[in-house]
Amino acid sequence: MTEPVIKVDALVKKYGNFMAVDGISFTVDQGEVFAFLGPNGAGKTTTVEILETLRTPTSGSVSVLGMDIRRQEQKIKQKVGVMPQSFNAFDWLTVRENIEYFGSMYSKTVDIDHLIETFGLKDKRRELFKNLSGGLKQRVGIALALVNDPDIVFLDEPTTGLDPRARRDVWEAVRELKNRGKTVFLTTHYMDEAYYLADRIDVIFKGKIVAEGTPEDLINKYGGGNTLIIRDCCEKAREQLVRAIPGSRISGSDILTKLPPEDGMASIAKAVSILNNGDLSCKEIYVKKSTLEDVFLNLTGEKLTEEAS
Ligand SMILES: Nc1ncnc2c1ncn2[C@@H]1O[C@H](COP(=O)(O)OP(=O)(O)OP(=O)(O)O)[C@@H](O)[C@H]1O
Ligand SMILES: [Mg+2]
Repeated sequence: MTEPVIKVDALVKKYGNFMAVDGISFTVDQGEVFAFLGPNGAGKTTTVEILETLRTPTSGSVSVLGMDIRRQEQKIKQKVGVMPQSFNAFDWLTVRENIEYFGSMYSKTVDIDHLIETFGLKDKRRELFKNLSGGLKQRVGIALALVNDPDIVFLDEPTTGLDPRARRDVWEAVRELKNRGKTVFLTTHYMDEAYYLADRIDVIFKGKIVAEGTPEDLINKYGGGNTLIIRDCCEKAREQLVRAIPGSRISGSDILTKLPPEDGMASIAKAVSILNNGDLSCKEIYVKKSTLEDVFLNLTGEKLTEEAS
């Protein structure tokens, strides 16, 4: 086992009396996409900016690539790439000029044309930044974060405010980073983004890490199990189903059943056999898998995003 590339132990950040980061500990391994998943104000940016040596912690220890953030700030800055939340570049410079400009701040840079090509920006390299769509701007942001050929790339909410198509484009760019062996530290409040991109997720809420694991682990452990949904049932079907299947309840004309993690098949088989016998009618039967949204709700009692409400 190689040493983790990020090690955080008992990290605290207070703004005055307000505890923004409340004693968190975690590690990130070389080559993984690690995500902080949490709502507004959870402490994501604060933590990430401490790791980037842009903010100073109140207490706790943090090492990045084996270096202490308090003592080797300049060295760390050379070795990490950063795409800040609400990132912006120079409106009146072209894509290529922006990348050149950011590159000029580092002692070592990658081949800029190759970088432009990798992120599908070749056709736009002479376009002014201000004329790009939101998704393309974010892609430029990721390219800028890579200009110094960093070992770790920090992406702070890289898709907030983008439409679904542009978000997908950014996701593919993040996948590309992983393929190139970069370690990616992502923050997001989108559960689908964390699910799609992250190898491992820390759920962060009110400055504390409330759970950690792979997306599937978290869903299996905290998702509350899958739900069998039988839609648009006639009254007789509803009565029989609810009587026969443990844990089921009527919701409008539907029957909802929380499936026990180990024994879900028994309930499904029972439902199907009931519906096979007699003149009962239902329109649809399916199993809804629990999601990271359910994980968050079960862990915190709150919805992760407004959209989920
Ligand atoms: N410079 C600051 N001074 C005072 N309070 C701050 C400062 N920066 C952040 N905070 C507060 O600390 C808490 C955590 O903020 P942070 O920006 O780390 O959250 P976040 O998880 O990144 O949220 P978001 O999803 O909205 O970006 C918030 O309550 C915020 O208002
Ligand atoms: Mg933030």
